[in-house]
Amino acid sequence: MKDERFLEVTNRNKNIHFTGPLLVTGGAGFIGSNFVHHWIAGRKGPVINLDKLTYAGNLGNLQDLHSNPDHDFVHADINDAALLKEIFTKRKPAAAVHFAAESHVDRSILGPEAFIKTNVNGTFNLLQQALEYWRQLDDDAKSHFRFLHVSTDEVFGSLNPTEPPFTETTPYSPNNPYSASKAGSDHLVRSYHHTYGFPTLITNCSNNYGPYQFPEKLIPLTISNANKGKPLPVYGDGQQRRDWLFVEDHCAAIATALAAGNPGETYNIGGWNEKTNLDVVRAICGILDEIAPKGKPHERLITFVKDRPGHDVRYAMDAGKIYRELGWKPSVDFEAGLRRTVQWYLENTAWLENVTSGAYQNWIQLQYAAR
Ligand code: NAD
Ligand code: DAU
Repeated sequence: MKDERFLEVTNRNKNIHFTGPLLVTGGAGFIGSNFVHHWIAGRKGPVINLDKLTYAGNLGNLQDLHSNPDHDFVHADINDAALLKEIFTKRKPAAAVHFAAESHVDRSILGPEAFIKTNVNGTFNLLQQALEYWRQLDDDAKSHFRFLHVSTDEVFGSLNPTEPPFTETTPYSPNNPYSASKAGSDHLVRSYHHTYGFPTLITNCSNNYGPYQFPEKLIPLTISNANKGKPLPVYGDGQQRRDWLFVEDHCAAIATALAAGNPGETYNIGGWNEKTNLDVVRAICGILDEIAPKGKPHERLITFVKDRPGHDVRYAMDAGKIYRELGWKPSVDFEAGLRRTVQWYLENTAWLENVTSGAYQNWIQLQYAAR
């Protein structure tokens, strides 16, 4: 039977083949590092990977690319205008994909300032430098250049249980400092297209999961804690709903939008896969019971804790436009993707130990001790 969500593709655009390097910001973080791997493994060309290496950025995510000539790492802050200018003029990227951001909602509640500095001011700075560079390109390079801004479904706010999923025309209604800062950056990007004709694309995606995610987020935190026999903190009653997408599918969607998206457009990306937080935590426990049965049953570790202030109840994405117009749809189902993710964390204990030492312990204390 035909799936109603994936009716005929109406308009497949011609793909751009970028002839110069791709500038990636935030490529040492979770999604960024997966994207750099995706781009290089797909032989799509060289990458200039610009990252500040905050607590969330980790060169260990890129270890296998250390001596790969297609990977050029630059340790820099997107707020550094002079350095950005130098990178654009000397290295001449053919396009840019902007991941760099402060990305954790709970941190934005406890300390919003860094979110404004990076997500709003930093995006503005990057846009400005990219625009000045683009303006002096020759006609051919100019017409092929793209600036893709990676954003989130959180900008649309919270849905009640019966509302239809977010579409590209859902009004913005961000509810926490993180989503407000991302909404601000989306508006800036949009305005650079509208005002200056700068060839921007915006992608808004739902919750990602997979290898290299920092264990402050629900899925890797649950895997890490469960495997150590520690409590699994579930905020409130755990009935909040999120749409989950395996990170490699998100990377493929970004590459598709970059090559074939229409400048000025936004594309929603999602997994068509809504789950309650409690169901996600239970699913992880079930997989661990099977493949690491020592702590069985892991569900006994579930601990309901004080809710996140202003907690959005439900996100859901309608990713029909990117399918109809560009032909992308998710390829990894949740059960398979979650199993691969749990397996990855069990097999990469050195990576996990490295990122959970030092400052991470301070964060866990600050965030969970009084809950
Ligand atoms: P992350 O926190 O894992 O990584 C962010 C990266 O940005 C890190 O490597 C960090 O060092 C770098 N960075 C931070 N501030 C910087 C600065 N001032 N200059 C240069 N680099 C800086 O984040 P993530 O989960 O990989 O998310 C990447 C992007 O995707 C973000 O823009 C986020 O809003 C968006 N997004 C994330 C999700 C998700 O589920 N994780 C979903 C949708 C959209
Ligand atoms: O929706 C996309 C967004 O998904 C991205 O824009 C963000 O960058 C990314 O961090 C993520 O935000 P969330 O707040 O949804 O992710 P997080 O993993 O922090 O939380 C997922 C849900 O689980 C949320 O409803 C809060 C809940 N939660 C989270 C943690 C860390 C818990 O119940 N317990 C926890 O300990």
